[in-house]
Amino acid sequence: MLLSQLLLGLSAAASANAANSWIVPGAAWMSTSNTKIDAHGGMVLKRGDTFYWVGQSASHNEQPYMYTSTNLLDWAPASNPQNSIQYMWRPKLAKPNGSFWIYGQVDRNVQALKSSTIANGYAISGSKVTLPPSSYTYSDTGMFMDDDETWYLLTSADHNNVQINRINSDGTIGSRVNYLAKGAYEAPGLFKVDGTYYLIVSGKTGWRSNPNQMFYATSLSGSWSGPYGIAPDAEKTYNSQNTFELTIKGSKKTTYIYMGDSWDSKGGPDSNYVWLPMTVDSKNKKVTLEYHAQWKIDVDTGEVSYPSKKRRYEAEHAEISGKAVARDCDHCLSKRGVHNIDPSSEVTFRNVAGLGGRQWVQFHYRVADKFAGEAHVFVNDEPAVNISSLNHRAGCHDVVPIELNLREGAVNTITFGTSGSTEAGIVLDGIEVVED
Ligand SMILES: *[C@@H]1O[C@H](CO)[C@@H](O)[C@H](O)[C@H]1NC(C)=O
Ligand SMILES: *[C@@H]1O[C@H](CO)[C@@H](O)[C@H](O)[C@H]1NC(C)=O
Repeated sequence: MLLSQLLLGLSAAASANAANSWIVPGAAWMSTSNTKIDAHGGMVLKRGDTFYWVGQSASHNEQPYMYTSTNLLDWAPASNPQNSIQYMWRPKLAKPNGSFWIYGQVDRNVQALKSSTIANGYAISGSKVTLPPSSYTYSDTGMFMDDDETWYLLTSADHNNVQINRINSDGTIGSRVNYLAKGAYEAPGLFKVDGTYYLIVSGKTGWRSNPNQMFYATSLSGSWSGPYGIAPDAEKTYNSQNTFELTIKGSKKTTYIYMGDSWDSKGGPDSNYVWLPMTVDSKNKKVTLEYHAQWKIDVDTGEVSYPSKKRRYEAEHAEISGKAVARDCDHCLSKRGVHNIDPSSEVTFRNVAGLGGRQWVQFHYRVADKFAGEAHVFVNDEPAVNISSLNHRAGCHDVVPIELNLREGAVNTITFGTSGSTEAGIVLDGIEVVED
């Protein structure tokens, strides 16, 4: 008892630095080992109190990688790699019988892996198979378990149909129960609310994001209504592509989570994730992504919350050098902001209060043309870092949180600058240091 308490204390201290306090759409998401979470095109499955996140590792030839968590924030790498298999795209987890199974796309066929334990020991099970009914090949994979615990593999077949195939109790791919033939869609995910099945799919635009769409059916084999948007079209699903919908049934409410991939230009290791809670209006059959720059969920109650304690510093009160000027700004909180921030300019916030350690700082700035230039920051005497390298939402949204290393006390200097041309039209509103 004493020894385990001691060990617990030690490991808590060792990992304190790595604890994540928020889900931050688009931001680099670090594991408890301080490595970037590398599980793209994946899904999350809950067993007992633990969540298992499986996905393809972009830095290790698309091997299936797994992470475990009890709060959806802090993810510990499982004993990766799961298997010697490579180039397995969009692996998904299922438990159609007493074994655990991973299904992923290899050479446009389904390859199954099987294990007696969920988080390790997966071995190749059988050879690659095509999809019934007509030996279809496919690209993307989704997974859904219905209330009767029957599992279904979702695929975007190469003839442009999104299919739903039953997974048999021996783990083999069974008959097709439904399909969607309403255009070129991929990246399917399915979830069920009040008896209605909601299918989310993306368009086919490679690694570039597009406005993902929702279709619904009142039974699993029923006809699909749609497409319906899930976010304003111009947002392109907040620069992400669907991979899975996670349902958290809490004691106070059920929350539905959209899990998307925020791909880099080639689906590589710089790809991040966009997870967002969804509003589901089951009367009007409407699904809407609720955008938040930072949020989290209490996995016991199902309730979602946002940063409540932030310390704000207005850009127009900071030290301004170069051509940059403070003037009126309609969309800024104080109606003043700093304009004309060209590469010769700097906006320096002094005496910024920190808690000591990694801390989220929200940069509130607007960019007119994100291809013309970009913003960088540096803290104290650390080197400059482009905001886009820490958060893919840079240039796309007015609030961009990044995690910075702050000293304890009102002793930090945060400097904001830009590179590229003034055509970027970057207007800095202020910064907010998140304390809770
Ligand atoms: C699940 O099905 C597979 C394939 O038929 C079989 O090898 C395995 O033993 C089954 N697992 C259990 C625990 O029934
Ligand atoms: C930031 O991005 C610009 C180009 O957009 C590049 O020239 C510069 O080297 C980058 N800075 C850092 C610190 O990576």
